[in-house]
Amino acid sequence: MKKETKKKIQIMEILEEELRKHVLSLNLCSTLEKAALYTLELPGKRLRPTFLMTSALDFDVEEKIALRGAVAVEMMHTASLIHDDLPAIDNDDYRRGKPSNHVMFGEDTAIMAGDLLFVRALDICNELGDPSLSNAFSRTLIELVDGEMRDIAMSKANGKNDDIVKMYKKKTGALFAFAFSFGPRLKGKNVEKYEEAGYDFGISFQIFDDIADINSTFEEIGKTPHKDLKQHKSTLVQRIGVEESKKFADTLYRRVLENLKDSPKLLSEIKNVEDTVRRE
Ligand code: FPP
Ligand code: MG
Repeated sequence: MKKETKKKIQIMEILEEELRKHVLSLNLCSTLEKAALYTLELPGKRLRPTFLMTSALDFDVEEKIALRGAVAVEMMHTASLIHDDLPAIDNDDYRRGKPSNHVMFGEDTAIMAGDLLFVRALDICNELGDPSLSNAFSRTLIELVDGEMRDIAMSKANGKNDDIVKMYKKKTGALFAFAFSFGPRLKGKNVEKYEEAGYDFGISFQIFDDIADINSTFEEIGKTPHKDLKQHKSTLVQRIGVEESKKFADTLYRRVLENLKDSPKLLSEIKNVEDTVRRE
């Protein structure tokens, strides 16, 4: 096995331990602890923390700091998925191939588990002591909530193409923008092009997620397929079709590669996961 691959596996194992540790250290009541750990430890792709740590590597950010950022970003993502699956929102009984948090623990506990993880994520980020990073993370959370609300609103009244893209940018792009700009931000560099790359990546990621909702099986995606149509979701795929949506995602993807020219390790990580994202 290549030295680089070995190191990557090692760091991902440390990430899993750290995710667990940052919940266990809170001495919570056992139901909340179990519920928070349940979704956090379901096998996910860990894309956001991987990108964040790679961005940190490109800008010589200490590994210890990068790991904390990675924990924060994955916790925030997990919190958002727990809430997204709730009966009042997407009402999905499955996540990552297993019953959703509210199916396992009840709606009341799932709401608390999501709340806990998102506050803990902010906490961990604040502990890094960089005000610009903390501000960026809080703004990310606001974008996530606003994006999700736009998604909810557009399932009641159809959205136009631009509104849908804006919703994708916020609900999915914001966390990628935070991860892609982690290294340069901590080194006081201009983060604009890295954030833009993150938003573009997130939009194209969401397009492929919506295509997967139509074309994939439960076994392939680990969540209920054909949900978007049933729940009257406004998606770009429903408005312009699969082929046009893919073309749009490819245009964004080319812009991602262009904007990440000065972050070579992140650029190569993006290329590594391209197949996973496109699910083709
Ligand atoms: C999944 O999208 C959901 C999101 C990308 C964002 C969810 C955001 C929130 C619930 C607001 C933030 C809340 C907290 C607690 C941080 P999807 O439904 O299109 O994808 P799916 O098929 O994987 O469910
Ligand atoms: Mg959902």
